[in-house]
Amino acid sequence: MPQPLPRIAVLASGRGSNLQAVLDAIAAGTLAGEIVGVFSDKPAAAALQRVPAELRWSANAKAYPSREAFDAELADAVAAARPDWVMCAGYLRILGDAFVERFRGRTINIHPSLLPKFRGLRTHARAIEEGEREHGASVHFVIPELDAGGVIGQAVVAIEPGDTPDTLAERVLGVEHPLLLAVMRLATSGRLAEHGATVVLDGHPLFTPLRLDFAGRLTDPASGAPA
Ligand code: GRF
Repeated sequence: MPQPLPRIAVLASGRGSNLQAVLDAIAAGTLAGEIVGVFSDKPAAAALQRVPAELRWSANAKAYPSREAFDAELADAVAAARPDWVMCAGYLRILGDAFVERFRGRTINIHPSLLPKFRGLRTHARAIEEGEREHGASVHFVIPELDAGGVIGQAVVAIEPGDTPDTLAERVLGVEHPLLLAVMRLATSGRLAEHGATVVLDGHPLFTPLRLDFAGRLTDPASGAPA
């Protein structure tokens, strides 16, 4: 019997270009998985429109009495979709501890900086302001502390003279999509796990994040060997 496809729930607040990259890869047969729901704190998020109506869940987080109340409903909706993986792709709301613990070890986030640098918001502007020469994106496991979970993979771009936060964001977005897909391939093929705060790849601790190369492959940054 064929194996069931890994089930992927996606949390998104905005335009959803990362979600679209995943949908395209599934359609092209380059990522084995199934999107089982797209969940948003913003009912008007363009990301929701990228999937059929029966896969959409949204609620206006601001209409809830507390973060916990919203998170509890979100978590129940996500759980009802029975995901193997929860992928935060442009989800701009902090997830509460209860949500994180419920899906711990199978929730990943894409963040537009080379973590541990520039957690939080305005990452592109801060990288320019601080005179960085390189910037990029990281995919990491989600833990209760914001943008602090074990980093699985990173993609690096140069900061060019004259870059603005917008031009830099666009360059970073170009590497975010292949990075997210490469990490999702590891996740959905059962090669990735989180033990405590440690990322585990093929049963071995990963002490340094993998690096996306120009061909869109994840490599060991020390040896250059493909993951
Ligand atoms: C991306 O830059 C992501 O890293 C950040 O928000 C942006 C979302 O883009 N968290 P999209 O909604 O996937 O197009």
